[in-house]
Amino acid sequence: AEAEKRGFPNYMLKEIHEQPQALRALIGDCLIKDEGDVLLEGLGLDDEALRSFDRLCLVACGSSWHAALIGKYLIEEQCRIPVDVEIASEFRYRNPIISETTLVIPISQSGETADTLAALREVKGRNRRVVSICNVIDSSIARESDGIIHTHAGLEIGVASTKAFTNQVVALYLLAIRLGRATGTISRNRGLEMIADLTELPDLVEKTLKLDFNAEEIACEHLTACDAIYLGRGICYPVALEGALKLKEISYVHADGYPAGEMKHGPIALIDRDMLVFVLAPRDRHLAKVRSNMEEVVTRGGRVIALCSEGDEETGKKAEFTLSIPWAGETLSPLLFNVALQLLAYNFAILKGKDVDQPRNLAKSVTVE
Ligand code: G6P
Repeated sequence: AEAEKRGFPNYMLKEIHEQPQALRALIGDCLIKDEGDVLLEGLGLDDEALRSFDRLCLVACGSSWHAALIGKYLIEEQCRIPVDVEIASEFRYRNPIISETTLVIPISQSGETADTLAALREVKGRNRRVVSICNVIDSSIARESDGIIHTHAGLEIGVASTKAFTNQVVALYLLAIRLGRATGTISRNRGLEMIADLTELPDLVEKTLKLDFNAEEIACEHLTACDAIYLGRGICYPVALEGALKLKEISYVHADGYPAGEMKHGPIALIDRDMLVFVLAPRDRHLAKVRSNMEEVVTRGGRVIALCSEGDEETGKKAEFTLSIPWAGETLSPLLFNVALQLLAYNFAILKGKDVDQPRNLAKSVTVE
């Protein structure tokens, strides 16, 4: 029954719209509200064990790798512990350095991605601890890990990950709270704040989903574009990568994500009327810098689609289109930006007549190398 489209034209749109409920399923029963902490029983690590690690290593492929990159920004900031992020197919063949005090965390929706599974086995073979973030409980990665954070996104059928990605990021947010509370880098008050922000997230995702109409209009206007670049800074840089991946996966428009500060080192040479530039400009500590990057694009004749925070009337003024994204705090707002990017990519693909659930050449789960 879970596999029905429930009135949606395809699984992808259904799954995009399931994000609020998927989030509620994940955060529903693990919050310990009075203590500013969370319960992650599947981890199998008590406070003392958590304190014994001095480094995390997140390993994944595709969108799950982007979730890991977001995790690096948020865990390093909140927990002050170094986080390495690895592409599984590189990691497994590199004879990676994994000390006893490194906690390795594979991230996978399916739990069956060949490279991620091989990375896990490489680590287990060296007697190192592995805790995975996984959506399918009955999967090889979940089974072979010492502990697990189950992402509770439900069955995901669309090849391009949407709700599973969102829940992976929130699983990392929950891990940050747990780790920070165990090590003391997150105070009870800070934990309470983080939980309060998280509790509001599902409703804010719902609100963001209502931007749908605007997304269709933007896609319609730019349908002939064949190149796109996504720019973001800080935690929005991996969101830019994910936005670009989504567009290329389902609409076959060539797209790249770039840290906005790196634009001058290459992509700026590509900017002209045919290049779409998506700028992620939340009102966070990077806003002034992102705005000047946007100016640089506009000055060179680039067509900007700006994603700004609600209430910010200034930033998007010179853009062709502006989407106002609800504010969910510096750490969680990027997830709302990502939801808007999902809708934009979806509308591009639909208007181009593409099969969003089964894009050509792609598989939901890459189980062979
Ligand atoms: C494929 C899918 C992506 C997914 C990636 C990793 O490329 O199309 O949506 O992010 O595999 O899959 P996993 O199941 O390991 O998260």
